[in-house]
Amino acid sequence: MIRKTALLFSRLAATVDLSYQPIMIDWKQLPTLITDRICLRPVSPADIDALFKIFSDPEVIRYWAAPALKSRDAATDLVNEIHDRFKRHEMLKWGLALRETNLLIGTTTLFNLNLQNERAEIGYGLARDYWGHGYMCEALRALLQYAFEVLNLHRLEADVDPRNSASIRTLERLGFKREGYLRERWHINNEIQDTVFFGLLRSEWKQF
Ligand SMILES: CC(C)(COP(=O)(O)OP(=O)(O)OC[C@H]1O[C@@H](n2cnc3c(N)ncnc32)[C@H](O)[C@@H]1OP(=O)(O)O)[C@@H](O)C(=O)NCCC(=O)NCCS
Repeated sequence: MIRKTALLFSRLAATVDLSYQPIMIDWKQLPTLITDRICLRPVSPADIDALFKIFSDPEVIRYWAAPALKSRDAATDLVNEIHDRFKRHEMLKWGLALRETNLLIGTTTLFNLNLQNERAEIGYGLARDYWGHGYMCEALRALLQYAFEVLNLHRLEADVDPRNSASIRTLERLGFKREGYLRERWHINNEIQDTVFFGLLRSEWKQF
C-alpha cells in the first residue's frame, strides 16, 4: 500500500510543479516600509490636506492617468477609494512620508495585481517641492524589495508618458527595461498620450 502511494506521488510530482507557491497578500493591514529618510505607511484622513496639495498641482499630474483633484472633498474621496480598493483586494497604496516629520509628500502604489501570473504595476507621485532629491528612488527601492522578496512577485511593470523624463530616469535607475511603445493609449486632460512600457524581473532587480 505504501509503495503504491509512493509510486502515485512520484508520478504526480513528475507532472505537477510542487515548488509552485501561490502569491499570498495579507489584506488585513498594509505593511509599513521604512528607509533612511522615508516611511511608506497607510494613508489616513489626517493626510487629506497634504494629498490635496500634491495632487491638485498641475505639474504633478501633468502625465498622471487621472485628472487633478479639484477640491478638498475630492481628496477625501481619494482616501476612501484607497481604503475601499484595499478592502476589495485590488490595490496597495502607501502614503510616502518624511520620517522626520511624518508629513505626507507623495504616494506609491502596487495595482493591476495579477497574482496568477505573479505580476503587478507600480505607480508613484511626489509633491513638487521634493523633486530631485532622490526620494522616489529611495521609496521605490523599498517597494521593490517588498514586492519581490515578501510578496514573491516575478515581474513589475510601469506605464509612462514618453515625455516624462524624470519618471523614466527614476525607472532606469532602478533597473527597469524599456519593453515597448504603445501609441495614443490615453485620453487625458484633452490630450491623447502615448505610453512607454517598462518591466523589471525579480531576477534582475538586485543588480541595482
Ligand atoms: C517622477 C518623480 C516621482 C521622480 O521623483 P524624484 O524623487 O524627484 O526623483 P529623483 O530625485 O530620484 O530623480 C530621478 C531622476 O530624475 C531627474 N529629475 C528629477 N526631477 C526632474 C525634472 N523635473 N525634470 C527632469 N528630470 C528630473 C533627476 O535628476 C534624476 O535623474 P538622474 O538619475 O540622472 O540624477 C517626480 O518627478 C514626480 O512625482 N513627478 C510627477 C508625478 C509623475 O509623473 N509620476 C510618475 C507617473 S509614471
